[in-house]
Amino acid sequence: MKGILLAGGSGTRMRPLSTIINKQLLPVYNKPMIYYPLANLMLAGIREILVITSPEDSELFQRLFSDGSRLGISIRHAVQESPRGIAEALIIGADFAEGQRVALALGDNVFYGAGFAGCIERACERKEGATVFACAVEDPGRYGIVELNAGGDAVALAEKPSVPASDLAVTGLYFYDRQAVEIARTLEPSARGELEITDVNQAYLDRGQLHVETLPADTSWLDTGTHESLLRASREIQAFEKSTGALVGSIEEAAFRMGFIDRARRRELAGELKDSDYGRLLLELTGQG
Ligand code: G1P
Repeated sequence: MKGILLAGGSGTRMRPLSTIINKQLLPVYNKPMIYYPLANLMLAGIREILVITSPEDSELFQRLFSDGSRLGISIRHAVQESPRGIAEALIIGADFAEGQRVALALGDNVFYGAGFAGCIERACERKEGATVFACAVEDPGRYGIVELNAGGDAVALAEKPSVPASDLAVTGLYFYDRQAVEIARTLEPSARGELEITDVNQAYLDRGQLHVETLPADTSWLDTGTHESLLRASREIQAFEKSTGALVGSIEEAAFRMGFIDRARRRELAGELKDSDYGRLLLELTGQG
């Protein structure tokens, strides 16, 4: 399975924080926001990842991740010329992902909790169709929304509806089978001028192939879209890491856990970061695990 990590967007809602820095490089507690979705792709066992960002920001992401070999993975970089929608990532990544299963992660979506690794595993095991993760929210009009029937099957989807049929948001981590690129190519831009990921999901729903996993109670999906929610996300991750002694969204941990790097390499990576609390915790965990 291939992975696509989309870190595009103009981040206007986060200005002035995002005036000169890509929103997905802003901190969520002790690491850049983009670490969290990258770690999730890695925890899905994905070793080949395409990072898509704006032309202005591409160099920063290349400096941050390089070619991924330090983590035992392969990272390629591509650009989205203008914010033409999430589904365009599948077209930009066509040469990379066509005819293969692909997981698409949005660079600003942070998940944490004990049950989440299991959710990812189940999505990976499903070879046919699409899997998306749904989470109840207070402001459904801001998201892609899914309506489920009594059996938990999806019956309708809508992107940012003015009258939401449910409060279940479709989160920004999507697992697709081989059809995704081909579906994305058939899309027309929406009223806001974007290729909507909700339309890709709708195509799977029309084919009877959309699986929706509601996030378990022990898993949280954090909003990072406003100054207020970004600060809250940092506090929650801080509280979780302090109480469990674990690191959430650590790409070094994910690489080790998935067997992409060995213990010696993990120690080396942690050693390079030892001047920070993050690096010290990583070193401690390397000693234990
Ligand atoms: C996008 C998607 C939406 C999804 C959300 C998750 O919204 O269009 O369906 O629920 O990501 O973060 P946007 O980032 O365009 O507001």
